[in-house]
Amino acid sequence: MPSLAVIGSQWGDEGKGKIIDYLDEGADLIVRFQGGNNAGHTIIVGDRVFKLHGLPSGVVRPGKLAVIGNGTVVNMEDLLGEIAHVEEAGGSVDGLRISDSAALIMDYHEKLDGAEEKYRGKKPVGTTKKGIGPTYQDKISRIGFRAGDLLEEDTLREKIAMVLPYKKDMLALMEAGECGYTAESLFEKMTSWGKKLGKYICDTSVLVNESLDAGKNVLFEGAQGAMLDIDHGTYPFVTSSATMAGGVCTGAGIAPNRLDGVMGVVKAYTTRVGEGPFVTELRGEEEKKLQIKGGEFGVTTGRGRRCGWLDLVVVNHANRLCGFSSIAVTKIDVLNDYEVLPVCTEYEIDGVRTKYFPGSVRKLERAKPIYTEMKGWKGWNDTEAVVKGGYDELPREMKDYIAFIEKELKTPVDIVSVGPDRDQTIDRRKNWWN
Ligand code: GDP
Ligand code: IMO
Ligand code: MG
Repeated sequence: MPSLAVIGSQWGDEGKGKIIDYLDEGADLIVRFQGGNNAGHTIIVGDRVFKLHGLPSGVVRPGKLAVIGNGTVVNMEDLLGEIAHVEEAGGSVDGLRISDSAALIMDYHEKLDGAEEKYRGKKPVGTTKKGIGPTYQDKISRIGFRAGDLLEEDTLREKIAMVLPYKKDMLALMEAGECGYTAESLFEKMTSWGKKLGKYICDTSVLVNESLDAGKNVLFEGAQGAMLDIDHGTYPFVTSSATMAGGVCTGAGIAPNRLDGVMGVVKAYTTRVGEGPFVTELRGEEEKKLQIKGGEFGVTTGRGRRCGWLDLVVVNHANRLCGFSSIAVTKIDVLNDYEVLPVCTEYEIDGVRTKYFPGSVRKLERAKPIYTEMKGWKGWNDTEAVVKGGYDELPREMKDYIAFIEKELKTPVDIVSVGPDRDQTIDRRKNWWN
């Protein structure tokens, strides 16, 4: 199996970074295909902690190519800061490659992101304010900058002359603050990015395809999660990219038949950052307990994540659209203080039971969860035995919980993550690249 995509099956923060880091030992390329520095992927290796936003998780292991694909949005200024962070933590970015077609996030996009939220009034999306939405808007409107522009002075001057007056008017109209650039100072800023990062910019679609032709192993690193997908998520409370498996093809520049497998990452409970409906959400002390136990605070914004029980209506929706060939269940160790664990398998909407996630957010707001109660493994804490002995060492109730997920999703749980560290991973399959 030379290519595998890792996709979040809920609302992001499922532990994708950790799973990608575990799997990429055997990979040659790790490719981001959508999103930008709204992502926050944590990788813990011994006493080293990497918090990655725009960089692919592959930068953590030496000798890998870490590719930022054409479907992403890139903040070059932030990327320089992140490269410094990785180098300080002992990593290297020698293998970094940035698609010449990746869209660039500019200062004005961040300002417009904040302003748009104000216009949404009482119903903000709760974005990360990283400028993700406005950057994708400009891409679709065909007035965005691309990484490759940084290498062509004529293109850059021509685009700046066209885009800058337009953006200045937009900022003024939306009372979003000053642009802060003249055409000349923006040109200088952007050519300085080109000088520092130009060596990494290339046609990454050719790179990925040639690597696959050569039998190399390619891991596609999803950001956000299925429920934040622009088309199939809880619109308008979503991000602005295609977060599902289909996004791999357009966002990395490969044909659909080149994707061999899709791993869905399922957190053993559910979290969500930002606004929007959340059927299994807990309230008050119950929510706080899970939030604190799971350390559920955002890597990118520091916001507390909303918490609730596992919702398999959500994960089944993701599975239908992504075609998971494997599941990784993460953070199951966090659930070790409950006698009973409710798992949602259906919704009741206006008196009718359904297994399907509704397209309308209003309907979703009226949905009531129907739970199956699973027995908990209260008090279990022996991660060390599990790291040594593997799956057999898990408590019986935890195995039942995993088997229930497998039955409901009709997909094997090949990985069980019992802690944040690379070693705290049970791998029931092992031969990922054969
Ligand atoms: P991502 O955005 O999907 O990569 O996930 P984040 O890094 O935003 O959030 C996941 C958090 O859970 C991080 O702090 C990880 O270190 C941590 N984590 C990942 N897997 C596990 C696990 O199995 N158990 C525990 N306790 N923590 C985990
Ligand atoms: P990772 O890759 C969780 C959420 C924001 C907001 C919505 C839109 O770490 O799982 P945006 O800034 O993208 O326009 O915000 O999407 N969001 C995430 N939530 N994990 C993420 O990434 C997220 N990236 C964006 O909180 O609700
Ligand atoms: Mg995250």
